[in-house]
Amino acid sequence: MKHVAVVFWSGTGNTEAMADLVAQGARDAGAEVEVFPVADFDESQIAAFDAVAFGCPAMGNEELEELEFEPVYEACEAVLGETPVALFGSFDWNDGEWMENWESRAHDAGLNVVGTAISRDYPDDEAETACKELGSALAA
Ligand SMILES: Cc1cc2nc3c(=O)[nH]c(=O)nc-3n(C[C@H](O)[C@H](O)[C@H](O)COP(=O)(O)O)c2cc1C
Repeated sequence: MKHVAVVFWSGTGNTEAMADLVAQGARDAGAEVEVFPVADFDESQIAAFDAVAFGCPAMGNEELEELEFEPVYEACEAVLGETPVALFGSFDWNDGEWMENWESRAHDAGLNVVGTAISRDYPDDEAETACKELGSALAA
């Protein structure tokens, strides 16, 4: 059984809702899943998981949340190696450019990105399906 971590930051709950859907998708696909607000996670925990999903909304100017999420994510980036990684998050007023930036950054860092999911504001039916499929991909 795959052991999957879902690590997220969420200001107003939209990315948190996505985290729960990613976790549900992974559980439905047979994984054991733990969900962590990013404040409760650090890079020393990576080794305990077969796959990790990171969730963060678009903040700043198409950036990751800089105070809590960015430092933990950056430290994890250095130790993830071949671990399958999924990226997800919510946005609102632009068109998802922050996720394009984030995915490029992950590829440049050599991460094994298996997929991404984005949602304008709170996840609608389409985003719900995308989140569950992302979780399922991590459980494979
Ligand atoms: C300080 C701040 C910066 C934001 N920057 C962006 C941005 O650059 N692009 C964008 O599309 N949305 C931006 N947003 C909108 C959020 O990404 C959006 O409200 C999202 O749904 C919040 O997710 P959450 O509920 O998980 O915090 C920003 C919101 C805040 C509060």
